[in-house]
Amino acid sequence: MVLNSAAQLPFFASRIVNWQKDHGRHHLPWQGTHDPYKIWLSEIMLQQTQVATVMGYYERFLSRFPDIASLAAAEQDEVMPYWAGLGYYARARNLHRCARQLVAEWEGAFPTSSEQIATLPGIGRSTAAAIAAFSYGERSPIMDGNVKRVFTRYFGIYGISSQRLTEQVLWQTAGDALAAADSSLDMAAYTQGLMDLGSDCCTRTRPDCARCPLQESCYAHEHSVQHELPTPKPKKTPPERECTMLILQQHESILLERQVSPGIWGGLWSLPKYDDASALHTACSNWGQSYKRSQKMAGLLHVFSHFKLHIEPWYVQCDASSVAEPGPRQAWVPIEHLPSTALPAPVKKILSGLFDL
Ligand code: ADE
Ligand code: SF4
Repeated sequence: MVLNSAAQLPFFASRIVNWQKDHGRHHLPWQGTHDPYKIWLSEIMLQQTQVATVMGYYERFLSRFPDIASLAAAEQDEVMPYWAGLGYYARARNLHRCARQLVAEWEGAFPTSSEQIATLPGIGRSTAAAIAAFSYGERSPIMDGNVKRVFTRYFGIYGISSQRLTEQVLWQTAGDALAAADSSLDMAAYTQGLMDLGSDCCTRTRPDCARCPLQESCYAHEHSVQHELPTPKPKKTPPERECTMLILQQHESILLERQVSPGIWGGLWSLPKYDDASALHTACSNWGQSYKRSQKMAGLLHVFSHFKLHIEPWYVQCDASSVAEPGPRQAWVPIEHLPSTALPAPVKKILSGLFDL
């Protein structure tokens, strides 16, 4: 799983720390404090939001709620305005719940190990480790999106990171890198350095390997596979929809419906379409027709770029004596004109099963 046989585990962390000291970020508002409350707030805000956006929100939030006690004492409605515009509002609700839980169960202070911190609402393993590293210097690895990029590329770790095995290898490797590091390792600098490297050098597109302290033993750099790592998630399977289509025949004509644009088939002539068979039959009886025959035909699957459509065609033949009045945009089209009519591909396929097209 870890392909990099040239990985230099004992030097991995120290290179990052040295690079962080010279090239990393040092003046972010949440640096230079060991207050777990302030660090926690910044880590939660930074989970899904850019540093530049977080800055202003962070200062405003802290001046209104400077500590756990003031946040826990507030009502949720008082907290939400300070989050408005940041998005992912479950973060703010969990923040508030967490402050109350700290007051109720932890004597109003953060627990002092990442393992205990990770039991609190809205705090996962990586965020708990970051809080413990910045607050107490705890030697626990982090693994957020930026850090995954650095690890998958440097160590040559393939596999989708949401898969259990890949996730395990990533955490194991992060743990191994820490275990191999000097006992005097500056954990805050290492943790911040991994984040800084991921956002500065080891970016998603066009990583700046020339400036990276890991370049000489990096797997992705050596094999020029930066673009393949981290392994991208497979595209989501398109949603599936169902419909029925009515092939209504009267004498030697078929009822067709002009499709409006914009729309998937805008400008083409299609069969009248219904959500299901009962809607189709209701529509038929609303016309007051009498039918010789109503027959379900073989279903058809049509794949669009962004969804799949299951079509269930129904072939309905009108009584020769009754005449259905076409609805808006509808017309009776003689069967002999079908070959020269602009029909969507699946409609053409359905009709060619019945008529000579
Ligand atoms: N993203 C998550 N945590 C961060 C931090 N401490 N500094 C910068 N970006 C981050
Ligand atoms: Fe990322 Fe390039 Fe550094 Fe490798 S050398 S860790 S790909 S920036």
